[in-house]
Amino acid sequence: METLVVDHPLVAHKLTALRDVRTDSPTFRMLADELVTLLAYEATRDVRVVEVTVETPVSPARGLRMAKPYPLVVPILRAGLGMLDGMTRLLPTAEVGFLGMIRDEETLQAETYATRLPDDLSGRQCYVVDPMLATGGTLAAAIKFLFDRGAEDVTAICLLAAPEGLAYMDKTFADTGHPIRVVTAALDERLNENGYIVPGLGDAGDRLYGVV
Ligand code: URA
Repeated sequence: METLVVDHPLVAHKLTALRDVRTDSPTFRMLADELVTLLAYEATRDVRVVEVTVETPVSPARGLRMAKPYPLVVPILRAGLGMLDGMTRLLPTAEVGFLGMIRDEETLQAETYATRLPDDLSGRQCYVVDPMLATGGTLAAAIKFLFDRGAEDVTAICLLAAPEGLAYMDKTFADTGHPIRVVTAALDERLNENGYIVPGLGDAGDRLYGVV
């Protein structure tokens, strides 16, 4: 598994504001949206393209166009929805699938409660978006779901990651040979006893959408 921590002052600036407990929900949503676009720019370096020729007003010009089948973007409900618009702005031809997963707060195990994905993902590049890579249980389960349906490669885009989560992902997919990348804005210190990332930013879903 490949991990990329995006090292850029604008990313750090937006992440710092996201972490700040004084940042209200509307601002948090706006910052998350902007941040995912910056992360997506790095995360899509390997997006498949084909060579094409277009006519400029002056002459033919060779260039690149996104290849079909177009990528699939998969937000993990609920918090991943806060990252969807930022992704589709950059990848307007992408399809969007949905995966509802919830973490049992006692066992910290991931459970699937909703799926809306193509049955056959053969040859598809998939981009999973979930703000917090904490224990890694939810993300690993989501990625396994996509590979079970034939996904070609999976890139996870997370605002923050904990070392424990990355280690769990590494262990889970070590011998599978599946191409997996994790792109994140920061690798934090650790998880606390409640499974929260430290220093983190709190509960991403609650900060995006309120405590419901
Ligand atoms: N999910 C969150 O929203 N925050 C954390 O710190 C960990 C998991």
